[in-house]
Amino acid sequence: MGSDPQSAIASLDARSERVPPPEAFAATARVRDPEVLRRADEDWQGWWAEQAEHLRWLRPWDRVLHWDPPHAQWFVGGRLNVADNCLDRHVEAGHGDQVAFHWEGEPGDARSLTYAELRDEVARCANALRELGVGKGDRVNVYLPMIPELPVVMLACARIGAIHSVVFAGFSAQSLTDRIEDAGSRVLVTADGSYRKGRTVPLKEAADDAMAATDLVDACLVVRRTGDPVAMEPGRDHWYHEVVGRQDADCPPEPMDAEDVLFILYTSGTTGKPKGITHTTGGYLTQVASTARLVFDLQPDHDVYWCAADIGWVTGHSYIVYGPLANRVTSLLYEGAPDHPAPDRLWEMVARHRATILYTAPTAIRAFMRAGPEHPAAHDLSSLRLLGSVGEPINPEAWRWYHEHIGGGRCPIVDTWWQTETGAIMITPLPGLTHAKPGAAQQPFPGIKPVVVDDRGDPVAPGEGGYLTLQRPWPAMLRTIWGDDQRYRDTYWSRFGSDVYFAGDGAKLDEDGDLWLLGRVDDVMNVSGHRLSTTEVESALVDHPAVAEAAVSGRADALTGQAIVAFVTLAGEAEEHDGLADELRAHVADRIGKLARPAELHVAPDLPKTRSGKIMRRLLTDLAEGREPGDVTTLANPDAIRALAERTRQARAAARSPGNSE
Ligand code: WT7
Repeated sequence: MGSDPQSAIASLDARSERVPPPEAFAATARVRDPEVLRRADEDWQGWWAEQAEHLRWLRPWDRVLHWDPPHAQWFVGGRLNVADNCLDRHVEAGHGDQVAFHWEGEPGDARSLTYAELRDEVARCANALRELGVGKGDRVNVYLPMIPELPVVMLACARIGAIHSVVFAGFSAQSLTDRIEDAGSRVLVTADGSYRKGRTVPLKEAADDAMAATDLVDACLVVRRTGDPVAMEPGRDHWYHEVVGRQDADCPPEPMDAEDVLFILYTSGTTGKPKGITHTTGGYLTQVASTARLVFDLQPDHDVYWCAADIGWVTGHSYIVYGPLANRVTSLLYEGAPDHPAPDRLWEMVARHRATILYTAPTAIRAFMRAGPEHPAAHDLSSLRLLGSVGEPINPEAWRWYHEHIGGGRCPIVDTWWQTETGAIMITPLPGLTHAKPGAAQQPFPGIKPVVVDDRGDPVAPGEGGYLTLQRPWPAMLRTIWGDDQRYRDTYWSRFGSDVYFAGDGAKLDEDGDLWLLGRVDDVMNVSGHRLSTTEVESALVDHPAVAEAAVSGRADALTGQAIVAFVTLAGEAEEHDGLADELRAHVADRIGKLARPAELHVAPDLPKTRSGKIMRRLLTDLAEGREPGDVTTLANPDAIRALAERTRQARAAARSPGNSE
């Protein structure tokens, strides 16, 4: 193997098999005809208009798209209500008794809500918000665990035209204050606490701290979840069950303009200040409903769908709340940790509910791999018919494990690429059509136009890496950054021109025209003038039987520009021993080429992760660069980074000591 990264990429391709859609699945799949993609490409606005027709419009649109780069308006002049589309129309069509959510609390308590019950609860909650003075266009901050009240409050906002800003319950008080102030919310909805790994988390305490740090909030609704005692400030704090409980279940949905804001969701940017990603009504619901239907192949009369994400992230907004409900599917909603009380919690739930679709993240899949295949094997998972992955590139090793041990070799896997900013799935296999390549998101969803470009914005040749851009507006695209349109232009629409969206991801197109995502471009390293994706090196490491997880980062190196630093955790039975680091480095060299061999490799008991399970590379980069790790407040496991910092220091000191030079 040569030392050129392009030949390394080519050899990765050569190893990757194609997995055709299982025949039984393809026979009944919603999309079976490749013609769909061609038609959507020729007349993409027509395609999206067709998708929009699946919704109930209170007034038809005059024009599909008004595109004044970088600002788009979709379904101009159209009116609709998101809650009406997710609830009322299904109830009116006679499906009121169908379960919308089978909810399960971490301690094992459960509650099922039918579409009719959910609509009534949403209407009562909407009336309660109105009683608190919330009107159209007002922002409502939501800081709730994964309990039914979370989707209820979101839909209640949508019903009356208020804008929700959900803050993931794992965020700190300070983060909540920042988001309340940036959005200018007067109203906060929270809970006394939540359950996590068998313990209660005092959410109201954090909310109190957040409210104390701003004078904006004058009304706070508190859901009773744990029953732990909380302070209730008279005049400001109200129990949810009291205020909502006394409301009428009649609350006609507000007819909203297609371009009215539906929600704000904050996401991290390259600077410290989070960006308020702003999504609107008609285009968002159109694409979210369409992708949910066609990518997950939803069959509303049969499926039991489970997206095991948290609603506090965009995945949960789009694919726990709006997409599934717009399609009238029955979903599972789970409050707690996937490994509580035992590593088979998810599998036990899949079996008991006969779940048919599971959508989760590669990091979770790798955690399941690490726990061992005996846990899923102990349960009957034969109800599953489709699996999904989102959040980061899925390494082929994890893909295969997921396919075999969860999908029983019988389920297509959809590896879905998208972002908080895109609002909905953009690049994905179509499960009845696409011959899957483990590790690649592969194809644009119909109507989407991704182009991989070089520094100058020119399309790159197949096999070469470049920047992922989107060169057509899409219905669920963000419309702006809340309160900072200039940042919107600068971040996404300035690098290659005002009509080219810069995704911030590296990608390549292979010889078959399939797209491979290579990680954030901020994570791309340059070693001796060669561009290397952290993802590729990680994938190679994880490919080694001793490795469970890997994170790779670049540090400055006087000779090669950047040098690769790898952090790994070991698989179940593997043990740390002298020579293991060299063995793993050699393994990477063997897999990709010597240029990809990590200069340093540190074995760790755990890697630093956000509460959503994403490895925090920024902190590892700090360690790799020999800096003190930065902000650790959003970590699920702050101890991991401290332990790792210590190990890295020791290893480097040992490497510097006499007689130990390489
Ligand atoms: C970033 C967006 C989309 C919901 C969850 C994350 C990475 C996401 C994939 C995938 C490769 C992926 C990208 C993207 N990403 N899905 N299937 N393959 N990379 O939302 O927090 O806005 O993160 O996640 O780097 O830019 P987010």
